[in-house]
Amino acid sequence: MSEYLPGLEGVPATKSNISFIDGEKGILAYRGYPIEQLVEKSNFEETALLLLDGELPTADVLASFDEQLRRNRRVKYNIREMMKHLPATGHPMDMLQTGVASLGMFYPGSECLTGGSCTDLNYVHNMTVNILACMPVIVTNWEHLRNGYDPVPPRTDLSYAENFLYMFTGEDPDPVLARILDACLILHAEHTINASTFAALVAGSTLAGPYSVIAAAIATLSGPLHGGANERVLEMLEEIGSPANAKPWLEKKLARKEKIWGMGHREYKVKDPRAPILQKLMMELMEYRGSKASLKLEIALALEEAARERLAVKGVYPNVDYYSGILYDEMGIPSDQFTPIFAVSRAAGWLAHWREQLSDNRIFRPTQVYTGEPLRDYVSMEQR
Ligand code: COA
Repeated sequence: MSEYLPGLEGVPATKSNISFIDGEKGILAYRGYPIEQLVEKSNFEETALLLLDGELPTADVLASFDEQLRRNRRVKYNIREMMKHLPATGHPMDMLQTGVASLGMFYPGSECLTGGSCTDLNYVHNMTVNILACMPVIVTNWEHLRNGYDPVPPRTDLSYAENFLYMFTGEDPDPVLARILDACLILHAEHTINASTFAALVAGSTLAGPYSVIAAAIATLSGPLHGGANERVLEMLEEIGSPANAKPWLEKKLARKEKIWGMGHREYKVKDPRAPILQKLMMELMEYRGSKASLKLEIALALEEAARERLAVKGVYPNVDYYSGILYDEMGIPSDQFTPIFAVSRAAGWLAHWREQLSDNRIFRPTQVYTGEPLRDYVSMEQR
């Protein structure tokens, strides 16, 4: 019998050429390109295509993909009607999952998925575009609907990140904020076989339709040990209240063996390479606004410093969620929308993995170590 490893730590569950992590050196690369270079030189649309197709696109290919994304920036009105009937107090991740799953009812055709060369690649491409184009619409529509307003219609003259900000706020997007959001989208787009990507692979391996695959991934991302951590980070910083309280607060948490949100990672034993990039973006935002570090950032820096003394020995450092929440907060985004924005971006990675899975599919069916009763006879009600 093979050894059981909790959390499948170190167990290769698939082969993939989409992204690569060196957890000792703090490297993350998409299709071989380091994220630092992509954040500096690419944009989300191009990075998404790189993840999906494997190579940086030519200008024509990128323009055509961008055009398709812009044209598909809308959801059927029935989806909006359905959203109006759901409780405004519901979590936006639940809304996003519901919205994406229900989109599947409008786009049938998944019977062409055979997990091999017979799969209709046009269907795969069109659904990929549709999911990437529709997810921001669902997230931004919900922001208005839950506050009792009509959603802001999309604009086709804006980039992916610009249109997101426009639909979210109803105002012309600030180019600096749009560039920062675009960088965040690139940074969150892919991260090897994490829990949500694994969920997408498992669903995809059954030849479920793409909307079900992405809905499964969204559900998995929502948990606080995964994407939901960014929202918790903000709550944690509010609870700490001041930089001076960071150290005593940390000591109390560690004494109770509680986790510090936004810290630690199964893969990284050094600081997550995405965290310093987010810190830099934060500084850029402050500089642009001519403001000094926000209280939350000061608390975060003090907590990171205090945590270094106590947690570095375990290889626990800030991860991507530690600084992303503070940045989004500074951009005026409500904390419960942090993880949906993460999902919008990660959809590119999920879809790339789904396509890779389909190209060489075998259904996931691991085994288990049975720890229950041996075979026994049914006990009648009177004898129990
Ligand atoms: N705060 C305090 N201690 C932490 C920690 C954290 N955030 N993350 C890990 N540790 C400690 C564990 O307590 C454990 O210590 P021990 O060996 O003394 O028991 C050790 O580091 C290993 O942690 P473990 O929970 O086994 O790691 P994992 O690989 O199973 O879990 C995470 C990885 C991400 C789930 C975990 O680090 C975590 O819960 N982090 C907080 C949530 C978060 O930010 N998630 C977003 C990830 S991008």
